[in-house]
Amino acid sequence: MQKFSISLLIFIGALLAASEAGISSPIIGVLTQEVYVDGLISRHFDNKTSYIAASYVKYLEGAGARVVPIWIGRNRSYYDDLMRKINGVLLPGGATWFNQSNGYADAGEHLIHLAIELNDQGVFMPVWGTCLGMELLVYKLANETEHRINCEATGMAVPMEFKEDYKKSRLFASITDDVVDTMVKENVTYHWHQFCYTEKDFERDLLNETWRVMSLNHDWNGVEFISTVEHIKYPFYGVQFHPEKPLYEFTKTSIPHTAAAVLSGQFFADFFVSEARESNQSFSNATEQARTLIYNYKPEYTSILGSSYIQQYLFTNVEMEIPEIPEIPDEGGNNDGGSSGGYIPIVVPGGDGSTTMPLLSGLLLTLVLLSIN
Ligand SMILES: *[C@@H]1O[C@H](CO)[C@@H](O)[C@H](O)[C@H]1NC(C)=O
Ligand SMILES: *[C@@H]1O[C@H](CO)[C@@H](O)[C@H](O)[C@H]1NC(C)=O
Ligand SMILES: *[C@@H]1O[C@H](CO)[C@@H](O)[C@H](O)[C@H]1NC(C)=O
Ligand SMILES: *[C@@H]1O[C@H](CO)[C@@H](O)[C@H](O)[C@H]1NC(C)=O
Ligand SMILES: *[C@@H]1O[C@H](CO)[C@@H](O)[C@H](O)[C@H]1NC(C)=O
Ligand SMILES: *[C@@H]1O[C@H](CO)[C@@H](O)[C@H](O)[C@H]1NC(C)=O
Ligand SMILES: *[C@@H]1O[C@H](CO)[C@@H](O)[C@H](O)[C@H]1NC(C)=O
Ligand SMILES: *[C@@H]1O[C@H](CO)[C@@H](O)[C@H](O)[C@H]1NC(C)=O
Repeated sequence: MQKFSISLLIFIGALLAASEAGISSPIIGVLTQEVYVDGLISRHFDNKTSYIAASYVKYLEGAGARVVPIWIGRNRSYYDDLMRKINGVLLPGGATWFNQSNGYADAGEHLIHLAIELNDQGVFMPVWGTCLGMELLVYKLANETEHRINCEATGMAVPMEFKEDYKKSRLFASITDDVVDTMVKENVTYHWHQFCYTEKDFERDLLNETWRVMSLNHDWNGVEFISTVEHIKYPFYGVQFHPEKPLYEFTKTSIPHTAAAVLSGQFFADFFVSEARESNQSFSNATEQARTLIYNYKPEYTSILGSSYIQQYLFTNVEMEIPEIPEIPDEGGNNDGGSSGGYIPIVVPGGDGSTTMPLLSGLLLTLVLLSIN
């Protein structure tokens, strides 16, 4: 009995110690993104100005985290306040130019600089960038000097091509040989981007001294590009591919869903969520936390309307507490997807008829699909 009580005490003590060092179920902010003017979302939903592809939310949830949406179009004090309550930030992929005001890139500017400030103050704040998110991270840390080149890497499922010293990184320090073996042999990573960073670009402005490049890949034309990076000083990580898609997106036949691809995607989710567990920040109280979490919103089944995302969370300016509509220039990429890879959008019975796309806009959608990152 006494022995039992002692081990119970030790157990409780260990739990308390663990809770001081970090948090077992971290809360990660996922940045929203502006919807494309006159795109699929604005044709089907009233007043929705931003979205999060639900696959990013599931990706984090599937590794034990909870998610809060981070709004676009808000002022510095909003981001500053939120960044002192969450345990990490995920910058998702998508399609937007970095020069669009009040959108993804402007919000990312605040988040990335606040993450730098917090880490400099000794507050651990990890940031993960997927595809366009990785591009934004590198761009902002390069003080907005453009280093991307054009490349062709849409709909490409390829193995990891690790660099020799990849095990020196934090990201791959504890990866097992079995997983590495699978990653280098099977088509586990799914790429969908038209911009690439190369090792040569990274030598300019010495980005190679602040970022560690762990893997490379080759686009459809054989152009070598950087596919995995981590910052040397800050807990910032970037992947040019989409680890969430093999797990949670089923809109293109080119997305791999093999056991190997799922295992690989899960590796990246598990890594980032365990990074976020090192953070000990929290909301001021349970009510504030509950009102902020993504559970307050319901995702829409958008692939059935022709989107390249199975489900999306869609937000209005009222939900984001933005007083007026942010200025979104009528240009840039379209996130709204057309059909491709054999996926046929379904016309919803009883829908308003606008689901049947006129030929021209169908063609345009297919064209702008190429700019999804
Ligand atoms: C969209 O916004 C307009 C203007 O504020 C409002 O009248 C309308 O009810 C809103 N639609 C929905 C579906 O919320
Ligand atoms: C930022 O926006 C909030 C409301 O969204 C407002 O209350 C606050 O005054 C604004 N702060 C600044 C510095 O503009
Ligand atoms: C934003 O960038 C895109 C791509 O470089 C360019 O085509 C567009 O003209 C730019 N827009 C503005 C407002 O600078
Ligand atoms: C960006 O600016 C910061 C602060 O001025 C500087 O320390 C850093 O070296 C710059 N980075 C690059 C890549 O130019
Ligand atoms: C990976 O994809 C390439 C190109 O589609 C294909 O030739 C190859 O057989 C695939 N490899 C595996 C292990 O499935
Ligand atoms: C980065 O690139 C510069 C320029 O080519 C080179 O001199 C330097 O040794 C490189 N640094 C690293 C860490 O590879
Ligand atoms: C979080 O960790 C920091 C640094 O270890 C410590 O100073 C701070 O008191 C901790 N905060 C909480 C809420 O536990
Ligand atoms: C919870 O925190 C929020 C934000 O700091 C505050 O406005 C609210 O009054 C607090 N609620 C309770 C019950 O303490």
